[in-house]
Amino acid sequence: MEFHVYESARAACEAAGVLLAAQITRKGDSVLGLATGSTPIPAYEMLVQWYERGVIDFDRIRTFNLDEYVGIDHKNPLSYHAFMQEHLFGKVNLRAENVHLPSGRSAMAGAAYDEKIRSAGGIDIQLLGIGRNGHIGFNEPAEEFTYGTHIVTLAKDTIEANARFFRSADEVPRQAISMGIGNIMAAKCVVLVATGENKAEAVYNTIRGPITPHVPASILQLHPCCVILADREASRLMRE
Ligand code: GLP
Repeated sequence: MEFHVYESARAACEAAGVLLAAQITRKGDSVLGLATGSTPIPAYEMLVQWYERGVIDFDRIRTFNLDEYVGIDHKNPLSYHAFMQEHLFGKVNLRAENVHLPSGRSAMAGAAYDEKIRSAGGIDIQLLGIGRNGHIGFNEPAEEFTYGTHIVTLAKDTIEANARFFRSADEVPRQAISMGIGNIMAAKCVVLVATGENKAEAVYNTIRGPITPHVPASILQLHPCCVILADREASRLMRE
């Protein structure tokens, strides 16, 4: 596991943009695993800027997002579909047929999504944020690690954390569909970005704690190519 600390949250997130841009530069038909949440926004801003300046090209890039709420229409501005459209898809030359997000509309949806990832050749680089409780994607703390894309019931802590995007916690969907830990571990390289004091415990438990499904991100200790980028606040407990 590589661990890099930055002076600001913005710098940590932009560094993730650098790694994604490098992947796109080296392999024009790369498969990117993408994440939502507020953390990756500066990384997407950097990618858009480099695209506009002609530094990177998305013409042959394929993308697979980690997760989506269940029960929210894709056109709803709070859906992850809308988030990706706003921050990346609508601003670069990604082809519509190369962009994928899971959808919880049918029971088979998860297996079909896994098959699409497999037939694309697997994910070259997977971008991740982290939940305050150590979740990645929407893989909540549990008794076991999950394998493929599946429907999840959101943890109380996640509903509270994500309530800031909705009018109230009552409006946050109770379910989501998420790539499993197996999908994330199968990515050739993983880049996790953590910023802010409220991620400090999750960062410490991910890197220094035991590998346990109670801290889903801790499994990344076993990943052969995992880079963790954090700001000073999120890495506070690592210095003690
Ligand atoms: C959501 C997403 C995660 C994300 C997490 C943290 O629960 N499903 O992929 O990592 O939020 O979000 P933020 O970056 O806004 O703290």
